[in-house]
Amino acid sequence: MYKVLTLNQISTKGLERLPRESYEIASEFSSPDAILLRSHKLQAEDIAKSVKAIGRAGAGTNNIPVGACTERGIPVFNSPGANANAVKELVIAGLALGSRGILPGIAYVNSLGHMNDAGEMAKLLEKEKKRFKGNELAGRTLGVVGLGAIGSMIANAALNLGMEVVGYDPALSVDAAWRLPSSVKKMENINSLFAKADYITLHLPVLDSTRGMVNADLLSACKPGCCLLNFAREEIVNVDAVIAALDKGQLRQFITDFPVPSLIGREDVVLMPHIGASTDEAEDNCAVMAAEQIDDFLKNGNIKNS
Ligand code: MLT
Repeated sequence: MYKVLTLNQISTKGLERLPRESYEIASEFSSPDAILLRSHKLQAEDIAKSVKAIGRAGAGTNNIPVGACTERGIPVFNSPGANANAVKELVIAGLALGSRGILPGIAYVNSLGHMNDAGEMAKLLEKEKKRFKGNELAGRTLGVVGLGAIGSMIANAALNLGMEVVGYDPALSVDAAWRLPSSVKKMENINSLFAKADYITLHLPVLDSTRGMVNADLLSACKPGCCLLNFAREEIVNVDAVIAALDKGQLRQFITDFPVPSLIGREDVVLMPHIGASTDEAEDNCAVMAAEQIDDFLKNGNIKNS
């Protein structure tokens, strides 16, 4: 019997890949064979000596001390691409929020709760709604930074919306390059992408080379009035530089899937609580992929996505 320690709630579909006849699964174990987790921040000292594998139901592994695991010969399995569709859909919603007066429009309508005359309300809205006018995405340029599973899906979706798409990836794999439609213009460097795009969306992992990558220098290269979206990792963007760019009007809006405390309450910022991968489908796909890899490793010694 193998013991699997779960440090977050893991979807039932994923747990079903670890059948009862071979696995005991619990949220507390003194000597587990494997750990299955989602966003729990795992510390090296909390990994018991008995652990032989770690599975992350998600794409990033920055909540796991991968270096320490490698030194101890513990493979860390993730689920690249398994939640890409969920993130893509939220980014498209983010583009809609960045182009149309959706949030202020909803807030305004909610502020009219005291009115009970529909006719009066309609008259008022007719007068006021010009304040919530936006622009269409079709014909605008989207810059996609990072062209892996998520970035390439977003590039395709944006093309279908009639946008022009330019892309940049500091480490574009041959597979990812093949997946990209030829109409996505590959830029030679990130500065030229920033200079061309009306909307920029970031899809990079957090590494030493990407931490704080969107800084004052880079933001000074962007097209004035550009809208920046960060649904990847909070650490990629230097928040002070974003605040300065918003104050100068270099950036028109910052839309992010992280609740950055110093940005709460700004009208030119939309903050979400890291819900890009929070769909039933994505949670199932990620858990299944992570659990299957743990099973294959513990039983057969096979290593995939590590
Ligand atoms: C990911 O790395 O794929 C996401 O952070 C997943 C999550 O929100 O759990």
